[in-house]
Amino acid sequence: MKLLIIGSGGREHALVWKLAQSPHVTQMWCAPGNAGIVLETVGQASCLSSGAVENRQDACPTGRVECVNISAEDLPRLLAFAQEKKADLTVVGPDNPLALGIVDLFQKNGLRIWGPNQKAAQFESSKVFSQNFMERHGIPTAAAGTFSDAAAAKRFCASLNGLCVVKADGLALGKGVLMCASQSEAERAVDEIMVSKAFGAAGARVVVQEHLEGVEVSLHALCDGTTAKLFPTSQDHKRALDGDAGLNTGGMGTYSPTPFLTDAQLADAGRAILDPFMRGCANEHIDYRGILYPGVMLTKSGPKVLEFNARFGDPETQVYLTRLENDLVELLDASVNGTLSRVEMKWSPLASVCVVMASGGYPGNYPKGKPISGLDAANVLPHTKVFHAGTALKDGQIVTNGGRVLGVTALGKDLKVAQAAAYAAVEKIHFDGAHFRRDIAAKAL
Ligand code: AMP
Ligand code: GLY
Repeated sequence: MKLLIIGSGGREHALVWKLAQSPHVTQMWCAPGNAGIVLETVGQASCLSSGAVENRQDACPTGRVECVNISAEDLPRLLAFAQEKKADLTVVGPDNPLALGIVDLFQKNGLRIWGPNQKAAQFESSKVFSQNFMERHGIPTAAAGTFSDAAAAKRFCASLNGLCVVKADGLALGKGVLMCASQSEAERAVDEIMVSKAFGAAGARVVVQEHLEGVEVSLHALCDGTTAKLFPTSQDHKRALDGDAGLNTGGMGTYSPTPFLTDAQLADAGRAILDPFMRGCANEHIDYRGILYPGVMLTKSGPKVLEFNARFGDPETQVYLTRLENDLVELLDASVNGTLSRVEMKWSPLASVCVVMASGGYPGNYPKGKPISGLDAANVLPHTKVFHAGTALKDGQIVTNGGRVLGVTALGKDLKVAQAAAYAAVEKIHFDGAHFRRDIAAKAL
């Protein structure tokens, strides 16, 4: 099979790394990719996998993954490329192309593509749509209201004593969520989003949710239109600094599994969220194929959905795919074909920890082009994989090229061992201004 992967972050490096291990794959492109993705080889099982490496290498041709300089949002050029190369399956990493309707476009042109179509991707591209859907179908969520009028939104904030979270409806690069501790803060948040239009058209409508207390976890489920298969648990660290201080980021590190949900509680949460989700989709003729990633708060009165994402989490993907024992091509194929009920997902009992190394200044302004050293020394450590996110190749040297630069990921027999291994690898890697949290997974220990 020839595969095209869309995106350029740590999530996409993890997807490419895992997909490249499948004996079904003969050739792979990534648009636009990064400096780590081009180092992956098709048909070569990694030292992290439990498969028989030599046999797989014999069984299929090997070759480098090729990065092509097409942006993840340039739908016409991505389509033309997939047509020219006769890609058998396109795999979409980020939310933007999904919201722009890449799946619908490829399908209209007779190409196979994995991910939710534009209607299904609304679960992420419109928080108002998601909130109303959850209420229509009895999915446990925060008490909330949806508004297109600022005065009405402020009145609802007042009914929550200003202890609320104001969210811009549309995609806002993860920045359109404002936490408020008083009515004056809430009014400022509503004005910022709806009146000053700090997030542009994304702020034409807002969701106001009650502020929930609890432990936040990431759930992921692979869906095929009728069946949803739940992954193990994971937990992200969204704040920039140790002890969950500092600004919100895309995610500074993850680990899986988390001890905050037992297997039985995970199964209960899955039933409480996924059963009404899939039933609601059937009722509303929404064909959900792809990953559903609910952000969930574990409250005193049970798990409640804060938001839905319509794609793999980043850096959740890095810990999930290092634990996944299935052939990912077969799983994504089943998701596209509607045959997931016949597949059993298998997960390594090992724990996985991913520590993100970011550019100094992230999530604010940061420099680019800083040379990175020590990558090979980190990658040769046992059970360790350094996933690239914001990296580029400049004059033969790998340099920083984004806010989140690397996702240093390691497996261990338990979280403590995995955490130590991930930090041992981090210590080998250097670039000017490198910033990382020193407490990834510490909450769980
Ligand atoms: P969202 O993009 O909706 O997941 O929001 C971003 C982050 O804001 C979440 O990961 C939570 O940490 C926090 N958050 C969102 N909604 C709430 C809520 N209702 N109560 C408490 N925290 C929230
Ligand atoms: N890990 C946060 C996200 O992918 O949205």
